[in-house]
Amino acid sequence: MKEKIEKLKSEIENYLENNDSKSKAEEFKQRFLSKKGEIQALFNDFKTVSPEEKKEIGQRLNMLKLAAMEKMKSLELLNTNVKADDTINDMTRNVDTCNHGSKHPLSLVRSEIIDIFSRIGFSTAEGPEIEDDWHLFTALNFPPEHPARDMQDTFFIDKDIALRTHTSSVQIRYMEENPLPIRKIFPGRVFRNEAISARAHCIFHQVEGLYIDKHVSFKDLKQVLMYFAEEMFGHDTKIRLRPSYFPFTEPSAEMDISCNICGGKGCNICKGSGWVEILGCGMVDPNVLKNCNIDPNVYSGYAFGMGVERITMLKYNINDIRLFFDDDSRFLKQFENA
Ligand code: PHE
Repeated sequence: MKEKIEKLKSEIENYLENNDSKSKAEEFKQRFLSKKGEIQALFNDFKTVSPEEKKEIGQRLNMLKLAAMEKMKSLELLNTNVKADDTINDMTRNVDTCNHGSKHPLSLVRSEIIDIFSRIGFSTAEGPEIEDDWHLFTALNFPPEHPARDMQDTFFIDKDIALRTHTSSVQIRYMEENPLPIRKIFPGRVFRNEAISARAHCIFHQVEGLYIDKHVSFKDLKQVLMYFAEEMFGHDTKIRLRPSYFPFTEPSAEMDISCNICGGKGCNICKGSGWVEILGCGMVDPNVLKNCNIDPNVYSGYAFGMGVERITMLKYNINDIRLFFDDDSRFLKQFENA
């Protein structure tokens, strides 16, 4: 019996070498693995084996059957023209690549903004997304009739509680609770009651900045913003400041950068003007400092605020803000190596 098993085993092992035709799988199955095949015949003879030998012969028979089944598999693979040894049995082969997650473009740009400001001494602070009227509007010098206090523009939860419409509320919290000087940036999610379109969303992200110290002037603000624009959009980037209005800054300005898509020549992104708006800024209004128990006769400061979506859209030439919130992997995949 043992000899028969050994003989079959070597026949099975050498099967291909003797028969290199690729359609041998069926023949092999008939001969060795079918009900009337040679292995089954040995199993049938098993009852004649002496009790002392049963254990060993039984094991050998099982091994033989396994070896035949393995061989069968590789013959079938040959039939499908796949070379078994190179693929299935190659243990050194790399595993199939799976889709790794990657950072969202907004996270990438947020980190870059934080990094740029951290290089000139600004550290980060955060605050709550649900805010009270004081931190959101009153302390920031918003007049009672300001449209931001309207249900049309702001998601109110209660009479005096709303989802924050800007991260300026964190500036107030920080000034109330911390000693001077202050040199901080405040990244965070904000909410506005806006119709969703290619250019606007009801949720977006801001990074605001605040610097309070003695003798802080507008030229400090301008220098820091120029540094930011050049770091973010390239060293050829130019900036310009246009007078504007915010209740919490005086004077106030909006900053444009030279269009990084057309280099300032004029295109549909900058609507032919060569300039695109990227942030609001100004000197902190003395009333705001007073509301935070800071003496405006001794201290002054500047603040600025930018939308992370807007910066990301300009940096990567993205023309629809909704793409950031759709979780479409075809869009997100493009930032894998960014
Ligand atoms: N809070 C303003 C906004 O949300 C941005 C801003 C911040 C403007 C700081 C000036 C100074 O639009």
